[in-house]
Amino acid sequence: MCGIIGFVGRGQAAPILLDGLERMEYRGYDSAGVAVRSESRGLQVRKTKGRLKNLADMIHGGADLEGCLGIGHTRWATHGEPNDINAHPHVSENGQIALVHNGIIENYLEIKEHLQKLGVTFTSDTDSEVVAQLLEYHYNECHNMLEAVGRVLRRIQGSYALGIICSDYPNALIAARKDSPLILGYGEDGNFIASDVTAIIKHTRDVAYMDDGEIAVLTADSIDVFDDELVPVEKERHQVDWDVTAAEKGGYPHFMFKEILEQPEAIRKTVSPRIRDGRVVLDTFSLTAEQVRDISRIFIIACGSSYHVGMVSKYNWERLLRRPVQVDLASEFRYSDPLVDDRSLVIVISQSGETLDTMAAMREAKRRGARTLAVVNVVGSSIAREADDVLYTWAGPEIAVATTKAYSTQLVLMDLIGLYLADLLGTVEQSEYDAIIQEVQLLPEKLQGWLADVHNVQYFASRYFNHNSIFFIGRNLDYAMGLEGSLKLKEISYIHSEAYASGELKHGTISLIEPGTLVVALGTYAPLFDKFISNVVEVKARGAEVLALTTEGFREKMGKTADAVIAVPETHPILQPSLGVVPLQLFAYYVALQRGCDIDKPRNLAKSVTVE
Ligand code: AGP
Repeated sequence: MCGIIGFVGRGQAAPILLDGLERMEYRGYDSAGVAVRSESRGLQVRKTKGRLKNLADMIHGGADLEGCLGIGHTRWATHGEPNDINAHPHVSENGQIALVHNGIIENYLEIKEHLQKLGVTFTSDTDSEVVAQLLEYHYNECHNMLEAVGRVLRRIQGSYALGIICSDYPNALIAARKDSPLILGYGEDGNFIASDVTAIIKHTRDVAYMDDGEIAVLTADSIDVFDDELVPVEKERHQVDWDVTAAEKGGYPHFMFKEILEQPEAIRKTVSPRIRDGRVVLDTFSLTAEQVRDISRIFIIACGSSYHVGMVSKYNWERLLRRPVQVDLASEFRYSDPLVDDRSLVIVISQSGETLDTMAAMREAKRRGARTLAVVNVVGSSIAREADDVLYTWAGPEIAVATTKAYSTQLVLMDLIGLYLADLLGTVEQSEYDAIIQEVQLLPEKLQGWLADVHNVQYFASRYFNHNSIFFIGRNLDYAMGLEGSLKLKEISYIHSEAYASGELKHGTISLIEPGTLVVALGTYAPLFDKFISNVVEVKARGAEVLALTTEGFREKMGKTADAVIAVPETHPILQPSLGVVPLQLFAYYVALQRGCDIDKPRNLAKSVTVE
């Protein structure tokens, strides 16, 4: 959830840290801080609550701090309110050790009480400060920082990515990781640690991914990595091929808007390499037909929007594979004593590849013998590295907290995987297979054409932005798509919203429909269009204002019942959500804009949820 960065090298650290933190601010933004060390000024720590801008103003863009060694942090509060004192870095009692932490120390209270009995005074409410104080304690025992860090890691439980500097080591930055992401960056003029590659890509593309239990010691010219027994380990280095500008706003008002408009290209990049000679090719997932036939259960596990992709995929896969597909929220799955065994195929979907609930669910599935396939956007992320197989969505860096292009690429990739499995099982007619292949390749073009004119969505947003409660209704794929439309609206505009299977309304929820209630009626799924119209009539009869989303072919028919209609181009029914979801993203975006919300960094949220 938080973002950490560290630098040791030949340039001034503070501006580099601020720039990196700005690129990671989506990870958490309720306070920020840096610690920089120089020979003449020693350890300089500055931190403040609120957005990173407050910190940047406080230290004049970094000019106030001197030194070529430093660490920085942007926080999403877990333990202790977001205030100046709880902001990172945390400094040990003697002022010699400064530390930034992303994760949660589960046994912090027990350690804190122990240290307090020994006379240590704590200043913050955080679990992270405990690590700084414990480190000082062990350092005083052994006078060797690497050994002291090793001892601390053996005492603490939970998840952590740590960046540490110590006055006795004026040229060294120390890092450690368990269950929270941490990347090592090998630069020309110094070396880096960061929670996310976007923070350092401006300086280097040469990276290594730290593994659980590892400790790294960085100087300006070297990075040495050790395992939890302090035995040196060789790290495999990777070249990051993300474009620097992809993680920049590039003149757009918000990352979310830019990322919505990037969807045709993101879909193209995800689909094109996976279709050859009219067939789906999944190079990194190569189950044989026999292995697929042997699968007794299929699970899709994810959180939030990625879970909503799973909901769409359940409908599509069951239709294509004629097999039951179970979709589970990762946070529920992991504690449900799931009926997973060595004949289960478990698909985990995650943009970040770091979502703790999803990772834990995947580990539980693996422990029970399942074969795991991860659909992930961030290359080298923890989930991608731990899954048996990984298929990447090529959405590029997604910065806005509200996902858009990652969702769209997950959706098409899941469609391709479903088609691939159906082909192996022989459960899809050749004509349908060909039709889907043809249409999936046309999606970018159709979407691009539709995106050329987004003003009608803007108009409807300005008409409806002051509603306090909005219902999204639909059947089948439209219901699954509505879950995402409703989440988008909730997370960035703070309007209460529900997504309902429209046939279910009459079993209770329709009592909430009264004159003026806004219902977003999703009628893009052609096979059930006529059935759905009856539901629209039902809410209209109770006085609802209906904004409908449908396809061009049904525009006129829908217009006879709904108050307003947005139409998208038609495609194969199983692919329709790929086009239908985009107006819903834009609707949420423009509504949030009208309401003056902080679109890219909505309150209480963070992009990468690495806590339980
Ligand atoms: C979506 O807009 C949210 N930011 C959130 O629901 C997100 O999809 C969820 O936290 C899962 O994240 P992941 O895909 O990185 O695992």
